[in-house]
Amino acid sequence: MLKNTTTLITGAGSGLGAALAERFIAEGSRVAIVDIDLDRAREIAASLDSELVLPLAADVRDTHSLHTAVDATISSFGTLDTVIPNAGIWDYNRSVTRLNGEELSDMFDEVMAVNTKGYLLTVEATWRHLVASHGSIIMTLSNSSFYAAGGGPIYTASKFADRGLMLQFAHELAPKVRVNAVAVGGMKTNLSGPSSAGLDSRKIADSFARRAVEGNPYIPLHDISMDPASFTGPYVMLASSSEAGNITGTIINADGGISARGFATAAGGDDL
Ligand SMILES: NC(=O)c1ccc[n+]([C@@H]2O[C@H](COP(=O)([O-])OP(=O)(O)OC[C@H]3O[C@@H](n4cnc5c(N)ncnc54)[C@H](O)[C@@H]3O)[C@@H](O)[C@H]2O)c1
Repeated sequence: MLKNTTTLITGAGSGLGAALAERFIAEGSRVAIVDIDLDRAREIAASLDSELVLPLAADVRDTHSLHTAVDATISSFGTLDTVIPNAGIWDYNRSVTRLNGEELSDMFDEVMAVNTKGYLLTVEATWRHLVASHGSIIMTLSNSSFYAAGGGPIYTASKFADRGLMLQFAHELAPKVRVNAVAVGGMKTNLSGPSSAGLDSRKIADSFARRAVEGNPYIPLHDISMDPASFTGPYVMLASSSEAGNITGTIINADGGISARGFATAAGGDDL
């Protein structure tokens, strides 16, 4: 569906970004795998078609390293059609009642810098090429872009802010560039936390593994896969100009139906 296109994905050395790289290559796109950890990016690239993949180091908080990665992508592949701002960190549910003001201040600066400034700077480094190609941006959002308690206040604020960025860019870059998002739910990945709180070697997959019950009893579709590969379909559809050429400013919620939760039970059909 995406033959002869080029896609740049941030945070593609692991988790959802890596699954998106694999899926977009399977759909015929060339992919720049951008990550702060070049070893991770290279490892993912090594498992994919070497003609179609370019592993690159960039810290999304740093505009210079992003521009360097974008320049390298254009040098290798010639165009840029799809950009997926995706690199992120989690706050491990650290609540306002658990941290003191200094700790909150440090965590806010680090999480917002990666999750929100990173999305802003990724768009700044790429929009000119997307205007030229009439391309599109697809942001990774979260259930935390809509609801409380998918993290602490800082993660929730960062993902709500990303939702605002998506809408604002959909306006600013129309009519040349479409801007959409996929709000994903829980996935077993390496999603880590801020180093300022000593959470940078944690993995969200370990937190899910500690749950007492299998699956996800909190969402209507309890049994959905938490493999990031199963969240990639909406991105492919939104990237395709033939399938989604009339869609901008839209979010697809790929979260097992959180908005359809009931008060008494998450799913009304457990006895069916
Ligand atoms: N895993 C979940 O349950 C879940 C749920 C909802 C939303 N998300 C979102 O999905 C996205 C991808 O996360 P994931 O779960 O695949 O995590 P992951 O840790 O497996 O992958 C994220 C990648 O981003 C990279 N990264 C971190 N900081 C960076 C920086 N400053 N510059 C460049 N790269 C950086 C990491 O090295 C890592 O390879 C994030 O935006 C996250 O908020 C994840």
